[in-house]
Amino acid sequence: MLSYQHTYHAGNHADIFKHILLGDIVAGMQQKPSPMYLLDAFASRGIYDLTSTEAQKNREFETGIGKLWPMRHQTVAAGVKRWFKLIEAENCDGSYHRFPGSTALLASMLRDSDRLAACDLHPQEFESLRQGFKSSRKLTLHKRDAFEALGALLPPKEKRGVVFLDPSYENKTEYSDIANVISKVYPHFRAGVYVIWYPLLPAARHQDLFKELKRSGIRKILRVELDCGDCFPDMQMHGSGLLIINPPWHAKQAMQSSLSWINQNLTQGKGITSLGWLVPE
Ligand SMILES: C[S@@+](CC[C@H](N)C(=O)[O-])C[C@H]1O[C@@H](n2cnc3c(N)ncnc32)[C@H](O)[C@@H]1O
Repeated sequence: MLSYQHTYHAGNHADIFKHILLGDIVAGMQQKPSPMYLLDAFASRGIYDLTSTEAQKNREFETGIGKLWPMRHQTVAAGVKRWFKLIEAENCDGSYHRFPGSTALLASMLRDSDRLAACDLHPQEFESLRQGFKSSRKLTLHKRDAFEALGALLPPKEKRGVVFLDPSYENKTEYSDIANVISKVYPHFRAGVYVIWYPLLPAARHQDLFKELKRSGIRKILRVELDCGDCFPDMQMHGSGLLIINPPWHAKQAMQSSLSWINQNLTQGKGITSLGWLVPE
């Protein structure tokens, strides 16, 4: 069942959190000059049109990017600046209506020696991805199941990289499915940085993800979270988080600055931020 389309939610508070912090993680890895491989396992379409019927249905972007856009010149957090610059580069009319998703963000950060692979199984999403991005030596697009692709594409020849896992969680078993697939691929790519996004919903199913990952025996799992409390009363999702396996040391300070900026400007400081080990070294 693939009914989820991210355009309905693009630009909301969770996108802001996940894209800015993902950028910080990649930038942290790029402190070292050696080449790296990026895998966007649940890519969606790469660029979202916020004027589309889908995005206009619930207008989730209004309390996300819509709220932050006027503040784009008022930040010192490097990750936030980088993200605003990317949105500016996508829009020649000064708006944010062409909203970059994870693939656009990762593609914009590629150095000459880095490579990016992006997968999506949804026919419409994949077609948009194909139209928006040209395959090249540096960028490959895969219409394939992410769970299968992880086994097939890892470990990469670069021996270092970031694997971004951003499923739609349409199916409630996906929380444990994600933990299980990581447990399977991790022994083949121990040096990899795995970044898993999860929503904070009333049912709190992200606890299944935590439980299974703790059980896997994998160490060095950082948990970064923004709980927005009741700042978004029209949405069920009251926040979101990232689990980062093998977080790059250099990214920690940048993530902390981004997180504070996002909380201050998105929730006026009413949200609760956390950054600490789910499983330490
Ligand atoms: C939350 S969206 C991704 C958003 C995107 N990462 C971003 O930040 O812009 C999840 C995507 O995963 C895709 N998807 C769901 N299950 C999949 C699977 N088993 N294999 C590949 N793609 C899948 C959906 O079609 C959807 O486009």
